[in-house]
Amino acid sequence: MKFLSAALLLGLATPALSSCPYLASLSDDSPQRQLTLKTENTKSRTEQVELADLQAVKKDIVELLHSSDPKWPSDYDNYGPFFVRLAWHCTGSYRTSDGRGGCDGGRQRFDPERSWDDNTNLDKARSLLAPIKEKYGLSLSWGDLFVLAGTTAIEDMGGPVLGFCAGREDDDDGSASLPLGPTAEQEILAPCETNGECEEPLGSTTVGLIYVNPEGPMGQPDADRSAPQVRDTFERMAMNDTETVALIGGGHAFGKTHGACPSGPGLPPNEDEENPWSGECGSGVGVDAFTSGFEGPWTTQPTQWDNEYFQSLLNYKWDSWIGPGGHNQWQVRKEQNVTAPSGPAADGDGSQDIMMLTSDISLTRDPAYLKIVKEYASSLSSFENQFSHAWYKLTSRDMGPVTRCKGSMVPPAQEFQYPLPPTPPSSSLPDFSKVRASLANLLSSNAVSASSLTTLAWNCASTFRSTDYLGGCNGARILFSPGKDWSINSDSEDTLEALQSIKDTYGESLSWSDLIVLAGTVALEFSGADKMRFCGGRTDASDGLGWSYLTPKITGSLSDDSNILIDEISKLGLTAGEYVAILGAVHSLGDLPGDYVGQWTSDPFTVDNEYFKNILDLPFTLYENRQYKAEGEEIYALKTDMLIREIPELSSKAYDYAADEDYFKGELKNAWVKIMNADRFDIEGREEEY
Ligand code: HEM
Repeated sequence: MKFLSAALLLGLATPALSSCPYLASLSDDSPQRQLTLKTENTKSRTEQVELADLQAVKKDIVELLHSSDPKWPSDYDNYGPFFVRLAWHCTGSYRTSDGRGGCDGGRQRFDPERSWDDNTNLDKARSLLAPIKEKYGLSLSWGDLFVLAGTTAIEDMGGPVLGFCAGREDDDDGSASLPLGPTAEQEILAPCETNGECEEPLGSTTVGLIYVNPEGPMGQPDADRSAPQVRDTFERMAMNDTETVALIGGGHAFGKTHGACPSGPGLPPNEDEENPWSGECGSGVGVDAFTSGFEGPWTTQPTQWDNEYFQSLLNYKWDSWIGPGGHNQWQVRKEQNVTAPSGPAADGDGSQDIMMLTSDISLTRDPAYLKIVKEYASSLSSFENQFSHAWYKLTSRDMGPVTRCKGSMVPPAQEFQYPLPPTPPSSSLPDFSKVRASLANLLSSNAVSASSLTTLAWNCASTFRSTDYLGGCNGARILFSPGKDWSINSDSEDTLEALQSIKDTYGESLSWSDLIVLAGTVALEFSGADKMRFCGGRTDASDGLGWSYLTPKITGSLSDDSNILIDEISKLGLTAGEYVAILGAVHSLGDLPGDYVGQWTSDPFTVDNEYFKNILDLPFTLYENRQYKAEGEEIYALKTDMLIREIPELSSKAYDYAADEDYFKGELKNAWVKIMNADRFDIEGREEEY
């Protein structure tokens, strides 16, 4: 009780700031915090019901493809290209920097995404699909419907399709896309100095576009400078050159750009909810549609899959000009003996010349891209092979491991899904009560500390990202680079060495990942935490590639920042209370890691609630310019610990835990089991077996 602050005893929710010298100094030089944390699990998604019959859905989509609604007539009597663009824009927002974006969640229905310039008129595509959504209800998510509509359209127009990974779950609002911008959240987490030249962690050069400005950098028709931007932005979602060229050429094998006159598309949904993008050219629809402001098709057969796009890029000289929509676009050079190829007009009445965008022309201005353009122009099969794989990757990348894919059309696991060996049957797993006993013996003999084992398990499991389901301890990628080289894992080699004898005893039947998770769990229990459920059956990866994009952003150093911490907690999929409980337990034990000195509590062998009392009540000051020390006490802390008391959602839980140790231990138990199993999609629905 002696540690409890007067404020808490008086029943105040938070302590008076002036009573805490550390807080005053931290606030002075820290930017104002604006992000907020969820304090409970509010991620409400489409209820899990049996997945719709995908073949029946495809049949309905095909029927829709070949129809035309006078409210938004189809070009060339085919909605195929429109739905390909819908699926591409829904999935193409994905970025590796934080796993955000992508079509899982179906958030293109909400702001901010629905009002992006690049999503102009896609409200019409979603309305066209609405009756199908209504027909299948909860058995078909919007996210699955958008991607399946695009994929079915490609197949229907003769394109190659690898398969379909179903299982997207709809979000109830667009909040998970707020960091994509344009929003205050994006300004905090990923500010962009010059819109048009935005860098990582943003996925595009321009907030509100999927990748690059089609007209060229900052609207200039400079194809030479457009190529590096195309490469840079496609790399931000892990697409290499062959995938990038295949995707752009495969997408633009279909459809047309829309820019009938310079007047514009009208107001976006966030400015005109009733009649968004009403279209200000003529009738506003059909041949009068204004979407991007460019005008024309890329090929002479815009509803037919082929590699004409690449052949045209190579066979003609292209000049930029201002098209009817008032934007820079490219036309075939008017030379003697060369007439621009033309295909049907969108309404089937007359014909229209082919065109290119600056970003298309850029593929001929970069030597590596040009080589690939030549290959695809001469080999349809090479193009088809690359496109089908790249499209599947584009549309499924945010779905995580293949074990999350549902339905009858899932192809074999792909490299980008970082597949693990199959989950072994529970009968071939070791007797985990014996492994528990071996671990307890190891701890009793002081061969390894509880603190090292808990830290190892937490560092392994907390790589998990709920945004794209990468990371987690299944796979034990902490054994490999890049994970093992991260500064937070500087002690992991010794800890793993200490576990080697147990691994040897159980051999193949015990995976490193099960051992690491169980070791952390037993270590917590050994130190006074409640007994926790353990679910075995993890398998080990043969490399660490699956952690390539997961470099920790919170390391304990002074550069840790409240906004970054909040962002990391939300990516982990943990609530404020869950995160604080785990951090409190891990930091109750042992010494500060790596080169830091001291310990967090007076009894570093016991999991109790002293950590919270220390953090909340002791007067910490900066120590050796890299960590913190409590004045007059041998109690130390990291910047992360200081943030616990600075961020109200976190400190509020810390007060609860400081006041009630049993409550803390109950919350710890739930949170620990949750994060250790966050990546166990491999046994979903079969948990009882394991
Ligand atoms: C249409 C730009 C990549 C598929 C368009 C339009 C623009 C554009 C400006 C015209 C929209 C309109 O006015 O209706 C770009 C840029 C890209 C890119 C700058 C990357 C550098 C892709 C990719 C795909 C794709 C990767 C699919 C794999 C399509 C389709 C259309 C289209 C199918 C035609 C839509 C219709 O006919 O309604 N693109 N695009 N694009 N894009 Fe792309």
